[in-house]
Amino acid sequence: MNKKIRHFLAIDDLSADEIMHVLELSKKMKDELKKSGTNDHLLQDKTMLMIFEKPSLRTRISFEIGMTQLGGHAIYLGPSDIGLGKREPASDVGKVGSSMADIIMARTFKHETIVELAGASTVPVINALSDKEHPCQILADLMTVWEYKKTLKGLKIAFVGDGNNNVTHSLAVASGLLGIDFSVAAPKQYWMAKEIVKKIQSLSAKTGMKLVETDKPEEAVQKADVVVTDTWVSMGAEKEKAERIQTLRPYQVTTALMSHAKHDAIFMHCLPAYRGNEMTAEVIDGPQSVAFPEAENRLHAQKGLIQFLMQE
Ligand code: CP
Ligand code: NVA
Repeated sequence: MNKKIRHFLAIDDLSADEIMHVLELSKKMKDELKKSGTNDHLLQDKTMLMIFEKPSLRTRISFEIGMTQLGGHAIYLGPSDIGLGKREPASDVGKVGSSMADIIMARTFKHETIVELAGASTVPVINALSDKEHPCQILADLMTVWEYKKTLKGLKIAFVGDGNNNVTHSLAVASGLLGIDFSVAAPKQYWMAKEIVKKIQSLSAKTGMKLVETDKPEEAVQKADVVVTDTWVSMGAEKEKAERIQTLRPYQVTTALMSHAKHDAIFMHCLPAYRGNEMTAEVIDGPQSVAFPEAENRLHAQKGLIQFLMQE
């Protein structure tokens, strides 16, 4: 991998200070956009290549609109356009793509595919979701928590549902980096991947964050500032749908479960959400939910990220 190029494949490809710097850049551009309706055209004549092996609403529109607002352009390549690893190897796609585009984002099934693509790319590559991590989502989530809680310090985040999940992994590692206490409630077979837990344990030794994995939702949510869930059936796991819905049923986020968190706790979800499964409609459409401002923050947080990566 070219050492000079900064990729963003996993949340800890940024240090804690760099994450905060990206959030500052993002907030500045968000405020500017809200005030004047435009941003400086920092990416005039620059093109982003957007590669998708899976469907998307938020990721596609936030990157594409973000590039437009920064004066650049984005090219969308959908699941049937390239045939990553089938029509040609991901490394060839990285070589060719980076010979023309200024920045690449990719949403892949296997994390190894984006690692291979980035390894051959001469421009920054952003992970727009793989089976292991969803780091762009977590930048938007941190921005949202920061906006609603005014700080990221001294907080407790609780994740309830599928722990062995890209969103859980990236959020847990970010919590390790930033010193935020993180509890996951999931049935044991859906606990986080061991390599992620190891990573968090070594971060927690430095930052003092507390990591808890439990199969008891009330325990995880106890006195939490932020309660998070995600779909029980991630893209690629559709064959396990019936089994997952049955096993994860006791992990639904309900108003009763939310009552174990702090009275001013917020509820977050990366969307798309399946009301009646991972949470009730009452929770996601209720007063504690910030799921929709969280979705909008994908736009702002990624503009901060793009600016940071292009400047590096
Ligand atoms: N949260 C998220 O990544 O949404 P999409 O899958 O619609 O992009
Ligand atoms: N964990 C979900 C996130 C969707 C944005 C998935 O991978 O499908």
